[in-house]
Amino acid sequence: MAYENIRLEQEGAIATLFIDRPKALNALNTKTLQELESALKSLPADVRVLIVTGGGEKAFVAGADIAEMAALTDAQAQEFGALGHRVMAALEALPIPTIAAVNGFALGGGSELALACDFIYASEKAKLGLPEVGLGVIPGFGGTQRLTRVVGRARAKELIFTGDRIDAAKAKEIGMVLEVLPADGLLAHCRAVAEKILKNSPLAISKAKQVIEAGADQDLRAANDIERQAFGDLFGSEDQREGMKAFLEKRPATFTGK
Ligand code: CAA
Repeated sequence: MAYENIRLEQEGAIATLFIDRPKALNALNTKTLQELESALKSLPADVRVLIVTGGGEKAFVAGADIAEMAALTDAQAQEFGALGHRVMAALEALPIPTIAAVNGFALGGGSELALACDFIYASEKAKLGLPEVGLGVIPGFGGTQRLTRVVGRARAKELIFTGDRIDAAKAKEIGMVLEVLPADGLLAHCRAVAEKILKNSPLAISKAKQVIEAGADQDLRAANDIERQAFGDLFGSEDQREGMKAFLEKRPATFTGK
């Protein structure tokens, strides 16, 4: 499908989703969020890893679109927030790994978009932060909750109360970003990680993701029950049979995802 503000490129089983509205530093307006919602719903079935990044030189995503938000009534803002939350939830719920490649400004909704991915790699040029309180609002696409789960309450409060823009090294130090890469090596790094993932069982990866997400909000006992059940469920699958047989036959496995 042709989109105006996003672009999906696929190479083999790896797709890269560009938020591509550079004139507004890829700010998320309603149209962009709607396009994202539609693209996430209709990802080709053979995509097995999704990389999310920003089009243009400067930004991953500089936030929700302030020009559009400025005049919203509270009812309209509820709708806009609900759309943003739907997009982040759809991204988080994808059954495949998602990697945020933060190539520049990831502010407000931009950090929130990155945090809805499974993990974040950032370029040395990246600047992250949640500056919403400086605009008289709070993060509205899940930032207060997802950031807190990643960096802990005190760090999340520090970032959100100050609105500080942090560099990639600081974001790595607090656990928000996994690795910092030279700008021209960021996407190659993400693709190399994706290639490693592709060697493993798609079924098992999808199950691992589901279990990690489902367990994250449970106490340890309930979370371990989820894992125990899922571990057993995988036995009898083609991937389990093939993975273990290949090991015993001392050859690489060929997985089908079934
Ligand atoms: N919304 C709308 N337009 C934006 C935007 C945003 N979030 N961020 C940047 N733009 C636009 C600018 O208005 C500017 O447009 P014009 O050329 O038409 O004037 C263009 O993008 C380029 O931006 P700048 O000239 O400001 O570029 P800069 O290099 O001087 O500064 C920046 C870059 C520091 C990222 C600055 O643009 C900025 O502070 N942007 C806003 C960041 C922000 O506050 N984000 C949070 C938004 S609120 C939110 O996200 C709520 C939520 O949780 C749902």
